[in-house]
Amino acid sequence: MIIDPNTFERFNAVLTGVIVPRPIAFVSTVSPTGEVNLAPYSFFNAVSYKNVMFSSSRHVGNKSKDTLRNIEETGEFVINIVVDPIAEAMNKTAAEFPEGEDEFGIAGLTHATSQIVKAPRVAESPVNIECKLDQIVQIGSGNHEHGLVIGSILLMHVSDDIIDGHRIDQDKLMATGRMAGNMYCRTNDRYDMVRPVYDPATGTAAQR
Ligand SMILES: Cc1cc2nc3c(=O)[nH]c(=O)nc-3n(C[C@H](O)[C@H](O)[C@H](O)COP(=O)(O)O)c2cc1C
Repeated sequence: MIIDPNTFERFNAVLTGVIVPRPIAFVSTVSPTGEVNLAPYSFFNAVSYKNVMFSSSRHVGNKSKDTLRNIEETGEFVINIVVDPIAEAMNKTAAEFPEGEDEFGIAGLTHATSQIVKAPRVAESPVNIECKLDQIVQIGSGNHEHGLVIGSILLMHVSDDIIDGHRIDQDKLMATGRMAGNMYCRTNDRYDMVRPVYDPATGTAAQR
C-alpha cells in the first residue's frame, strides 16, 4: 500500500502509529502575567547534545495552545520527562483547559522551583530540563499550523537515585513511550547491540 499524506483519511493516525515509541515532554511554562501551565507533547526529542525540540499545533479547535504562546512570549520553558508513575497525571493535564488554569493542581503534581527559568519544574518527574528558546520554526499554516520549538538546555535536574556517573538506570527512570492514540508503552524490555567500527586497513567493520 502506498499512502499519500494529502489524501489518506486520518493520515495522522498512520504516522503516529509507525513512528513509535515517542518520548513525552511534559512542558511547564509561565505566562508573562505569572500563570503556570503544564501539558504533554510527544512530538519531542533531543536534536543535538545541548538542544531539544517539540512541536505544538497552534490551535486546538478555537483555542490557541497555551504552551506555545507562553514560550513565544517569555522565551523559557521546562521539559519534565514523563515516567510511568506520573503517566496518569500527565494524561489528566491533556484536556483543553481554559487559559490560566494551572494543570499542576488538576493532576495533583507539585511545583518545584527552577534555578534559572521562571516556569516551575514537576517535582514528581525524575528529570527536569530548564530551557531557553532558541527558535520556533513555523510549519504549515491555518488550521494545520504547528510551531516547532527548539530549546537550548540551560540546566538539567536529575534525581540522584537514577544516575550513577553518567549512566542513567533505565529500570529506575521508567520512561513512558507514546504509541498511537491512547496507547502507551513501558521501556522495561531492552537489549544491547554493539556498534561496529570500520577498519580502513581491512575495509570491514566489526563489533569490538
Ligand atoms: C501523550 C500526549 C502527547 C501529546 N503530544 C502533542 C504534541 O506533540 N503536539 C501537540 O500539539 N499536542 C499534543 N498533545 C495534546 C496537548 O497536550 C493538548 O492539546 C493540551 O491541552 C495542550 O495544552 P496547552 O494549551 O496548555 O499547551 C498531546 C497529548 C497527549 C496526551
